[in-house]
Amino acid sequence: MAILPILQFPDPRLKEKSAPVTGVTAEVSAFIDDLLETMRAFPGCVGIAAPQVGNQSRIVAVDVSVHRRGSQEENHGLLVLVNPEILAMGGKQLVREGCMSVPDYTANVQRAQWVLVDALSREGKQVILEAIGFEAVAIQHEVDHLDGYLFLDRVSSIKTDLFRRKRYR
Ligand code: NI
Repeated sequence: MAILPILQFPDPRLKEKSAPVTGVTAEVSAFIDDLLETMRAFPGCVGIAAPQVGNQSRIVAVDVSVHRRGSQEENHGLLVLVNPEILAMGGKQLVREGCMSVPDYTANVQRAQWVLVDALSREGKQVILEAIGFEAVAIQHEVDHLDGYLFLDRVSSIKTDLFRRKRYR
């Protein structure tokens, strides 16, 4: 297991589209362990995507149970999603987001209130799940990473919705 370095904006690798995983091999599984250890190294971090550590594979992890808001809502705890696909989404919410790859800023981003997701579990089994509220936001944010989007790309007004912060928390 290892804590992996996080790529930071404006690293061009964060703008790339990641490739589907063809099978959850032992190598992929070992990488997922590292990805989780890296996420856990940042207290309060609710999600991570493989391309953030320079691995252009469609793998994300989400765990909103460690977050003030997320823990108060219905959530799945730790989710590892391989090849996640958002099948449907609905509703609207405006949420303040941050990202380990953009440590100096937070922003208000408009996201769907719920998502229906199809993915493989880390055991390689198909899972279909519905997420709401903050967990739905985290999933949308992480799936965006797989397509080369950062929350900065989702901000409607840089003037009013983007905020500088002193440290990552
Ligand atoms: Ni992020």
